[in-house]
Amino acid sequence: MIWQRTTCDLERVDANGTRGTLIQGDALTIDLSDYAGRVQCVYLDPPFFTGERFSFRMRVGEMGWRQGKRVIQLPAYNDFAGADREQYLAFLSALLHRAHKLLNERGSLFLHVDYRISAHARLLCDAIFGEEQFRNEIIWSYQTGGRSVRYFSRKHDTIFFYAKSKQHFFDITQVPCQRKEQRSNHLKRHVDKDGRTYRSIKSGGKTYVYYDDEPAYPDDVWTDLSQMQQKYPQRTGYATQKPIPLMDRIILCSTRAGDLVADLVCGSGSTLRSAANLGRPFLGVDASRHAFSVCRKRLFDTQLSCVAPLSTVPAMLDASVLPGIGFYVVTLNAYTLPGDAFDRYADQLGDHPVLSLEAVDQWHAGLINGDTFVSYATGARKKESPRLPTELSVPLLRGTVAILLIDVLGNRTLWAASGAL
Ligand SMILES: C[S@@+](CC[C@H](N)C(=O)[O-])C[C@H]1O[C@@H](n2cnc3c(N)ncnc32)[C@H](O)[C@@H]1O
Repeated sequence: MIWQRTTCDLERVDANGTRGTLIQGDALTIDLSDYAGRVQCVYLDPPFFTGERFSFRMRVGEMGWRQGKRVIQLPAYNDFAGADREQYLAFLSALLHRAHKLLNERGSLFLHVDYRISAHARLLCDAIFGEEQFRNEIIWSYQTGGRSVRYFSRKHDTIFFYAKSKQHFFDITQVPCQRKEQRSNHLKRHVDKDGRTYRSIKSGGKTYVYYDDEPAYPDDVWTDLSQMQQKYPQRTGYATQKPIPLMDRIILCSTRAGDLVADLVCGSGSTLRSAANLGRPFLGVDASRHAFSVCRKRLFDTQLSCVAPLSTVPAMLDASVLPGIGFYVVTLNAYTLPGDAFDRYADQLGDHPVLSLEAVDQWHAGLINGDTFVSYATGARKKESPRLPTELSVPLLRGTVAILLIDVLGNRTLWAASGAL
């Protein structure tokens, strides 16, 4: 059997989960006109103007996934290293204009920044959304990272919440949280005639009563959602990954099931994963190929449509296809990258070369019809299953049997089977 490199404009995943679109491209220039006025919530966590180059820790092969020792650091994205503030603000302004265009009249924007740029970002949002559409400056306070002795430790990010219009949708009852105990400890405690405990306080001639068994809701200072910790199993290795509970809170209060959620700088895809879990269709865009491959893997169970460049790396693939009853069995045998592909990671890999299927992070088997590759089955390395599945089934339908493979360097290649099956 011969496997020929081929191309397709679109990759579609045949799955039952939430519908979504994932695009690898520049959020400022790709065509998003189909989404104009259709999005209910846009969350943006852009580069923070740190001047750093962020990396992606890619685990290599079964050893890498089992023990976390075989890892290479790939360049994920450049956070405006060498750029000046004007260049950064031009980027942020263009991104906010795009977000504003995408939102429907009941929609909301959540812009995640930190102390470096928050003052400028607030003014930009005022200018683009209108001062009157400001809703909150949310302080997300966390305890991770180092401590400073020269000034107070910087332990929060800022999330600006702007509405598209006065009619925006917002439902705080969807995001109950733990009551902040310390804050209510000074209130008088009582027990009512039914045995329910409550606290009360008099202020301005009014008495405020808070029952202990009533749900509490977050205010604009969020201290109950932790940053990604080193040991979290959901860590993808993508720098600056945000935790799912943070995304859940934003999505749940600002959308209903079925509403479209967009993230134009989606990184590892936390927003998209949260939207998918909550039954909200999603649109994710990121310029980084490693962001794309992390998201593609994280969204394996969704009805995903993907648009991303295919690599021209001179790789070789060996696989076989056997027709079964109602399906083909596709077996991946070998994958070979050029001899020097890992040279720049030699100091990280030590004396052990990356051999054949060790270089494969994920592969998808499916059928090509016209300009679309439909993926029916996925084999991917994960923490819970470090060994790469090498046999996948594809239904016996019309189309050319094909394999879409993403290797540990982020090369995405599409291969069509030809010759006798
Ligand atoms: C802070 S990270 C996002 C992290 C993400 N929220 C997560 O949970 O993983 C910022 C992302 O913006 C992306 N980015 C920067 N400039 C971009 C552009 N012009 N178009 C699309 N993505 C861009 C970077 O590749 C990076 O993944």
